[in-house]
Amino acid sequence: MRRIPFAKPDLGPLEIAAVNRVLESGWLTNGPEVEAFEAEFRERVGASHAIALSSCTAALHLALDSMNLQATDAVLLPALTFFATAEAVLYTGARPLLLDVDHRTLLLEPELLREWIARSCDFNRSELVHIETRKRIRALIMVHIGGTVCDYQGCESICRQFGLRLISDAAHAFGSRYQYHMVGSDALGDEMSCFSFYATKNITTGEGGMLTLADEALAEQIRLKRLHGIYGQAWGRKRWSYDVRLQGYKYNLSDMAASLGRVQMARSLEMQTRRQEIASQYDLFFQKYPDISILPHDGESSSWHLYVVFFPDSRRRDLFVEAMFQAGIAVSLHFIPIYEHTFWKESYGNQTALFPGARQAFETMVSLPIYSALTQSDLEYILDRMSGILQPLLPSES
Ligand SMILES: Cc1ncc(COP(=O)(O)O)c(C=O)c1O
Repeated sequence: MRRIPFAKPDLGPLEIAAVNRVLESGWLTNGPEVEAFEAEFRERVGASHAIALSSCTAALHLALDSMNLQATDAVLLPALTFFATAEAVLYTGARPLLLDVDHRTLLLEPELLREWIARSCDFNRSELVHIETRKRIRALIMVHIGGTVCDYQGCESICRQFGLRLISDAAHAFGSRYQYHMVGSDALGDEMSCFSFYATKNITTGEGGMLTLADEALAEQIRLKRLHGIYGQAWGRKRWSYDVRLQGYKYNLSDMAASLGRVQMARSLEMQTRRQEIASQYDLFFQKYPDISILPHDGESSSWHLYVVFFPDSRRRDLFVEAMFQAGIAVSLHFIPIYEHTFWKESYGNQTALFPGARQAFETMVSLPIYSALTQSDLEYILDRMSGILQPLLPSES
């Protein structure tokens, strides 16, 4: 029986040669490779500044840290995301407040957000205050789940109206586009975008992240904070002297990781095309199953980090998942909503009833393998096994 993993990094001789070159150079930590990676990244997405970091979580933390959040403040984020999005808010001492998502798109929808604000907040003297917690809402994090982009214009207009900062958790969205602009571009309405290069992401550095933004002064401050607040970098420094200008963090990326990232970026269009082909083949397959819905998409703006389908009920979703594992095909679920986790329940109580959209998605969705290293033969095996598994569960139309 075959064993098909849920995700697999697409690495070859070019990546190995690049990392070897860094190892042989004797300079391993952040240096010329990081600088080149940042320059290539900002060029690719159309951003004035790209700051390489040790993770997307670090990028989210630095983005929020730059807002001087207080314990009396709150930050909005979707209930359906990886826990890191909420954790980054907790690092700042502010309160994360969850919003429901649309169960068909998995995204924050501006209409839902407007209704939530009308129901749950007071807006006076240009401050948006959450009635129940009395926290002042300062920012909104959009999460482009699976690479499907949120409605930038809709979210931006709400943020402008209520004086909120807007940032993107773009962990899944390297390669995604909104109205022909790459996620992370200066042309889009968010202030900062945070990318992940974790091992399963569309491009990887093993672990790593990138923060993009337009504002020069903010970029300068975030660069300082990424490495202990030290002014000037070790690479190229001629003397022993250094100066800590403000309290920072240890969030830098290594040259080993950046060299890997540069090769992955150079190969990313080819890798993206393969993800798109896989998505098209899944789309075609699911046309035969009217009871299964797929994420709405236009075919070209998603990075296709995830391919998610929805079953009519949790019983048949669970039977499908079990049968796929029996067939040697790993599937996954993105995500266990934030409010389901023990830590959240212990901190804020049971909030399950507040998020009908996230709950419906959580009960019925499943993510299928999609990655550029997935061979056509493995994809055909998946499609073939799915036909057999779905036949008794859901009638197909052919
Ligand atoms: C939506 C989302 N946000 C943030 C992160 C955190 O990324 P990192 O592991 O690079 O810190 C992840 C990681 O998978 C994620 O899926």
